[in-house]
Amino acid sequence: MVELSSAPPCATDSLVECALKVLQCPDPWQKAEYTYSTVRMWRDGTIKRVRPVEWRHLRAPDRPARSDDKVRVCAPGEAPRRGKGGSLASRQALLHSAVHIENWAVDLSWDVVARFGLRAHEYELPREFFDDFVTVAEDECRHFTALAKRLEEVGSHYGAFAVHDGLWESAAATAHSLPARLAVEHCVHEARGLDVLPGTVAKFANNGDAESAALLRDVIYPEEISHCAAGVRWIRYLYDVAHGRRPPAPPADADAQVEAEAEAEATPLPAASTNGAAAAAAAAGDADAPGGLSARLRELGVGTSSACGEEGAGGGGGDTTAAATSTASTSPLPPSATTGPAAAAPAAGGGAEEASAAWVADARRHVSVEAWFHSLVRAHFWGGLKPPFNDEARARAGFGPEWYLPLAQPAGGAPAAAAHPEAASGAPAAVEADTAAA
Ligand SMILES: [Fe+2]
Ligand SMILES: [Fe+2]
Repeated sequence: MVELSSAPPCATDSLVECALKVLQCPDPWQKAEYTYSTVRMWRDGTIKRVRPVEWRHLRAPDRPARSDDKVRVCAPGEAPRRGKGGSLASRQALLHSAVHIENWAVDLSWDVVARFGLRAHEYELPREFFDDFVTVAEDECRHFTALAKRLEEVGSHYGAFAVHDGLWESAAATAHSLPARLAVEHCVHEARGLDVLPGTVAKFANNGDAESAALLRDVIYPEEISHCAAGVRWIRYLYDVAHGRRPPAPPADADAQVEAEAEAEATPLPAASTNGAAAAAAAAGDADAPGGLSARLRELGVGTSSACGEEGAGGGGGDTTAAATSTASTSPLPPSATTGPAAAAPAAGGGAEEASAAWVADARRHVSVEAWFHSLVRAHFWGGLKPPFNDEARARAGFGPEWYLPLAQPAGGAPAAAAHPEAASGAPAAVEADTAAA
């Protein structure tokens, strides 16, 4: 892996390079500054590209830089009890836990941008995808700084309590797959945050801390709903693209492909060398290169023209029945022609070794987006989902009970997904964002 700089993001950086700089920055406050400056430059057009022209040497870190020297990390079971908010120490512990979760949420947002932005070949993500996760990163950063300030106002500080890093463990378990990452981080952990957040608000409100309660209820809660919504929206998008129900939106940096191909044609490579167009395509993350998304869709007989559903970029979200007449949507591949989530794991971080868009075949094994979601969660999250669910908040995020009830733990019983083979190896992380939304 190339040594990454922790220098500040600058005007000549691409979005992915800025994201890598945030991830490489250990100090949480500097991480926040880097986040805000990146968001500003992305929004005002200073940052023009998702990836630099030459990007295949870049790779998302296995673990973001963190202030482990200032914030002591312990095993999940050893984290201090937070209590019910009846004492100042309990309220400090509750706020501290929330600050830590939000700080991780900043890194998780940028990890999505960097890790899957560098897998252009496999996912062909449009600019709207990056807009969404830049907004999520900005929100999480605002949550972190506001909660950290509140923690200091009640007489404590970030680093005063030991913490655990369970959220990153589940991120690492889904580093190979964008659909798995979206399902587990955004539709399991963040949704769990929505379930428990009203209770956390009550712990503050019932114990005389109206200010912390208002921050959680009025600022953080509605934005966390939008983060779950982003996860749902892009899972739906990937599912619909795989089934030919909507054409893939134009990939970000598409102009780079055109420029690279023109340059390659102007300066043809020697015959013994790689084909010029193919090399240019590779440099630009061309989806038509062997194994890329467009090539994979053609191979599977999925149309990519506008004859498919016309929902366009991922913003549409909801109606998966609009183009249900698609032949592909009613003819999922036989099991022998598919590749499950585990087999779909290419080298994390992208680069020339990227696997084919195996997620397409995996999505096509399932007759509905909800069924695909269930499969992703069972494969990558062990433990079942813990009721009671915040149905109202989940509905506002765009997913109803048909998404999560089949995954629920039986009341007082064993986890619903305990039989999954990965569970035996302990690979999927069974952690909970059980204090506040991330
Ligand atoms: Fe969030
Ligand atoms: Fe948050």
